[in-house]
Amino acid sequence: MAPLNQKRILLGVSGGVAAYKAVEVLRRLQRMGAEVRVVMTAAATKFIQPLTFEALSHHRVYADLFPEEGDPDVIHVRLGGWADLVLIAPATANLIGKMANGLADDLLSCVLLATRAPVMLAPAMETRMYEHPAVRRNLGRLREAGYRVVDAEVGELASGAHGMGRLAAPERIVEAVVGELGRSDAFCGRRIVVTAGRTEEDIDPVRFLTNRSTGKMGYAVARQARLRGGDVVLISGPSSLDVPPGVEVVRVRTVAEMREATTEAFQGADALIMTAAVLDFRPQQVAASKIKKAEEGLRLDLIPTEDFLVDLGACKGERVVVGFAMETEDGVANARKKLEAKRLDLIVLNDLTVRGAGFGVDTNVVSLIDRRGNTEALPRMSKIEVADRILDWVARRWQ
Ligand code: CTP
Repeated sequence: MAPLNQKRILLGVSGGVAAYKAVEVLRRLQRMGAEVRVVMTAAATKFIQPLTFEALSHHRVYADLFPEEGDPDVIHVRLGGWADLVLIAPATANLIGKMANGLADDLLSCVLLATRAPVMLAPAMETRMYEHPAVRRNLGRLREAGYRVVDAEVGELASGAHGMGRLAAPERIVEAVVGELGRSDAFCGRRIVVTAGRTEEDIDPVRFLTNRSTGKMGYAVARQARLRGGDVVLISGPSSLDVPPGVEVVRVRTVAEMREATTEAFQGADALIMTAAVLDFRPQQVAASKIKKAEEGLRLDLIPTEDFLVDLGACKGERVVVGFAMETEDGVANARKKLEAKRLDLIVLNDLTVRGAGFGVDTNVVSLIDRRGNTEALPRMSKIEVADRILDWVARRWQ
């Protein structure tokens, strides 16, 4: 079967010289079995006639947010909902800037906000523009937000100069689309439970114990799993992060609440990804009223909380269970012990001593350690990318 059989791809063409190469991209997508519809920006129509795309896609080209002949549907919502994937090729500096800032002043930019499908973009522009700090920043932001970027290449540019910024070769773009949609296939119809953030345990009505976890890693996993078409339940400790679109959230505070919510969600799940930094201790007693200050200070008696990952690991059956290990020394050895003790399929070792890893930052430095004894040390990368590596591992495991 063709790799893109029955896949619906919305091809967005923005206004650069490379717009003509979008024709080749369209042809290749069709040859792979995809159904393609085309949206063009006004500038793109200056470079290439919509008729070319119409003739090849056997369908009208959309370019106008307010079409003259009228359309009973809200066109950007309909197109955004229709697509299994939105591909922008070429993506100009202007469109990238609009996407990074959530602007929506024409049909294509509205579609990009209205869709919940994965969005992939292939930038193309002159080297100086591509290397401009504003463009670098905008592309970085989009990557962080879960957009896929097919990096530009070095080659001959429209100005005649030779340099970085040429649209990636059509075959490379199509390869990336096939890879992305293959990922979604693994997750469609799957239920994934993700725990995220910290827990809190009360000392008295105004004070509590907690840790530094912000939830960024877990929210990234939830977002990426949802983008792949999974049915995602996010069990979140206190966090100020926005819940990713389409993700069902259960908010909890204490270890007991997290345990209960996770155990319940685990019932019908295919995978559990336990990124939460669960407290290991809680005060033996919670004072009913505020503890007054005292000359002699205060001693707190702490007792262990229940490690519910151990319980869930023990009864997991066919379900895939991924744990995290936060370590400050002997990382790999300690992580392996946790993998065994908690009967996990995979453990993600988070070395908190490395720069750009751990709490509060957007990047992480992790190693993936599995039951077969394989250890894959990943370089520093965004938490979104780490999330994808973990989900790729889960998908391979399901296969
Ligand atoms: N975990 C859990 N319940 C706890 C503590 C941890 O379910 N009470 C889970 C975490 O979510 C994580 C894994 O167990 O996926 C490992 O957590 P970590 O804090 O690294 O290890 P601990 O088992 O708590 O051991 P230690 O703190 O001694 O390193």
